[in-house]
Amino acid sequence: MAENQLMEKIVALCKRRGFIFQSSEIYGGLNGVWDYGPLGAELKRNIKDHWWKSMTRLRDDIVGLDGAILMNRAVWQASGHEKGFSDDLVDCKTCKGRYRADQLAGAVCGLKPSKCPTECGGELTEPRQFNLLFQTFIGPFQNEEAKTYLRPETAQAIFVQFKNVLEVSRKKLPFGIAQIGKAFRNEINPRNFIFRSREFEQMEIEYFCKPEQGMALCDQWLEDRLKWYEEIGIPRAKIHILDVKDGDRAFYSKKTYDLEYEFPFGIQELEGIAYRTDYDLTQHQNASGKSLDYFDEETKERFIPHVVEPSAGADRCLLAVLCEAYAEEKTTDEKGNEEIRVVMRFSPKIAPIKVGVFPLLKNKPELVAKAKAVQELLRPHMAITYDESGAIGRRYRRIDEAGVPFGVTIDFETLEGAKEGDYAGQTDTVTLRHRDSMKQERVKIADLLPRLLAAIA
Ligand code: GAP
Repeated sequence: MAENQLMEKIVALCKRRGFIFQSSEIYGGLNGVWDYGPLGAELKRNIKDHWWKSMTRLRDDIVGLDGAILMNRAVWQASGHEKGFSDDLVDCKTCKGRYRADQLAGAVCGLKPSKCPTECGGELTEPRQFNLLFQTFIGPFQNEEAKTYLRPETAQAIFVQFKNVLEVSRKKLPFGIAQIGKAFRNEINPRNFIFRSREFEQMEIEYFCKPEQGMALCDQWLEDRLKWYEEIGIPRAKIHILDVKDGDRAFYSKKTYDLEYEFPFGIQELEGIAYRTDYDLTQHQNASGKSLDYFDEETKERFIPHVVEPSAGADRCLLAVLCEAYAEEKTTDEKGNEEIRVVMRFSPKIAPIKVGVFPLLKNKPELVAKAKAVQELLRPHMAITYDESGAIGRRYRRIDEAGVPFGVTIDFETLEGAKEGDYAGQTDTVTLRHRDSMKQERVKIADLLPRLLAAIA
């Protein structure tokens, strides 16, 4: 399948099945802003929950923070964002298009969509700096004193709360602070669906350490993060590691790895892991006049910790998960006709819905009652969908497209096997259908919950 065709199919499926919609769609949309529908909201939540669990709860050395989106403007002055968070912008004098100067090759001319702005013949202006911060005002007056910005990254809240978190958590170096939250950038050219948006979510860790630990920890984090991506179904083989060379890194960074995924539109950044030295804490210490140092009780030394920052985008991660999951395969329907099955092969761990529950026929009250009982049995433990309309094959196809790993069908054999008074379902069985293999097996209702819980853990 051509790669742009694959992307079109994924975008269409996202809308059709309710993963992702254009923001403000009924008013013509808002460029670079997206809404997550019922399935997308569950999927994103599962990705973020898995990150949070692996990065904080399952480790002794990382604690969480949930910082505000709005911060004192002084934060953005000290961090360098107010002056320097910009991209080079060029205008086309012919089509009036605006482009990021470093991304002209991948951009599309407004008048000749088959050409990029350097090939279409339009004259381009000299690059000029465009600051990506979204401005806003705090309080009733719109003046310089009231000005601040929507945060362009979550990281700064971690740096400015470093001392508070250190004191309450009583952690020793090396230790980290993790945060998930919204970030906003007024991107010149939002594109590739949710890949580059103006509003997005980040999952960031600032991992504080002694200066001599920084380089090795950067390598350690690379391993840890690759392992995490594998756990959610993105294989190492699809992630390219770019060891960003001198001159291309931020001036304060001694080492940066970009983890790039093979998206259908090209190999592009999923996450950055940067050894940022003591730059950020030093900037905030100098600007605020408040000490942000650390006292090492063993060596009796006082110093500003260094930091390694694994910074991932939740939306990009979700897009990679969607691309990795999408599959089409030839199969036959119930009548033996050939058809294409579209299936989202999400890892059961992060699949938005874990199981579909189906009475074989909706006009048989015994089947419906039993299916509802199974629904009640499972729903406190996992996201489920209940569907009684249409042929069972059609219902399976619907959950395949939604990426539901298991289907449970209550059929006549269920009723035959049931002994009167056996409400716990010790004797009665259901059909358990597996999304990927389409294999079906009979499982006792009593065994269903532990089987499914083990499969989605
Ligand atoms: N604190 C460091 C930082 O923000 P970054 O490389 O600018 O570094 C980190 O952003 C991650 O955030 C990226 O790897 C990407 O996954 C995500 N990200 C950045 N800009 C984005 C955008 N406009 N849309 C979606 N995700 C974005």
